[in-house]
Amino acid sequence: MDTAAKDDTVSRNPNTSNQAGAAGKGFLSDVATIRARARKHIEDGAVTQNYDADRATVLKLLNEALATELVCVLRYRRHHFMAKGIHAEPIAAEFKVHADEEQQHADRIAARIVQLGGEPDFSPEGLAARSHSEYVEADGLIEMIRENLVAERIAIESYREMVQYIGERDPTTRRILEEILSVEEEHADELADMLSKE
Ligand SMILES: [Fe+2]
Ligand SMILES: [Fe+2]
Repeated sequence: MDTAAKDDTVSRNPNTSNQAGAAGKGFLSDVATIRARARKHIEDGAVTQNYDADRATVLKLLNEALATELVCVLRYRRHHFMAKGIHAEPIAAEFKVHADEEQQHADRIAARIVQLGGEPDFSPEGLAARSHSEYVEADGLIEMIRENLVAERIAIESYREMVQYIGERDPTTRRILEEILSVEEEHADELADMLSKE
């Protein structure tokens, strides 16, 4: 990999990520944990002064994003099959759509990890711990929708921070993350809509 071209990144302070807008009160502790973890990795990146080290940080963040997507696939699929009740059918169908889109995100991230010379971590061991979002089975439609919304909000915060961290240094990874971020925002919006109709 080319290292010479990246010397200009040394003088730049990557630790400039602004806090995203305050999250909804019910979700503050989860988001705070995510932010702390993401920031910790970013600081690891800031003390390194060459491309390879920076790439290692990007790979670490991407593997956490991969784990997050995989957990989201599992949670949405569980909810798809377990959704019951008179309103369940369209919501269960939407969970399946989301599950498939999270799988596409996982695949894009895995492909990018390989492009950057890394290895995608698909190990089930430690998957939940690597993931930013949680696998919550949830009881009933409303709780399922709410848990999925929490997970989407966590993903949105994570991707936004990654995009801010990567900045101009890796436009391809940034574009991939931005495109995924926009889909997560759509997911969150749809889930919020479902809740408001109940
Ligand atoms: Fe996703
Ligand atoms: Fe999503």
